[in-house]
Amino acid sequence: MMAPRTHTKLRIIVASLLCLCSLGVASVSDWRQHVPESDRARANPYALDADAVSIGKKLFQQSCAQCHGDDANGRTHKPSLRSEDVRTATDGELFWLLTNGSVRHGMPSWSRLPESQRWQIIAFLRSFNRAAAASHQGTTKSATIGK
Ligand code: HEC
Repeated sequence: MMAPRTHTKLRIIVASLLCLCSLGVASVSDWRQHVPESDRARANPYALDADAVSIGKKLFQQSCAQCHGDDANGRTHKPSLRSEDVRTATDGELFWLLTNGSVRHGMPSWSRLPESQRWQIIAFLRSFNRAAAASHQGTTKSATIGK
């Protein structure tokens, strides 16, 4: 049995953790507000390039995985790149972020990578959405079949 006092302490700890988490979520993707309209609308010239995803994956392992994780699920204080925020960002917004970084929040600028490589990395990030959509379709289908 837990003493009532421990209980209160626990509640305070849980409450402050929840608070911290929501703060963290609110600050991520603030960068999107800084993207100029013309950049937002840019299309990925590699969107239909069959090799872009595999090249982008290699580049991701070299430059991004150390912070965002090998599977892009994020690390402590480094956001997941499989989030709703990244999924709903336009290619142009992601390109702007890679070019400019969000340096104050710990995301470096990748302007030293050639533009083509930045777009290839974005093509790789986009491939998650397709995989997620496919597996989602798979689950709904099998769920329907099961019924
Ligand atoms: C040194 C650590 C570090 C490296 C390396 C790094 N990032 Fe980041 N990244 C961050 C941090 C920290 C943020 C959160 C920035 C913010 O909150 O404004 C971030 C944010 C992002 C976001 C926006 C996520 C969101 O939810 O809004 C994207 C997309 C992203 N990074 C992609 C990349 C890619 C692609 C690379 C490799 C080219 C990369 N990052 C390399 C630390 C890093």
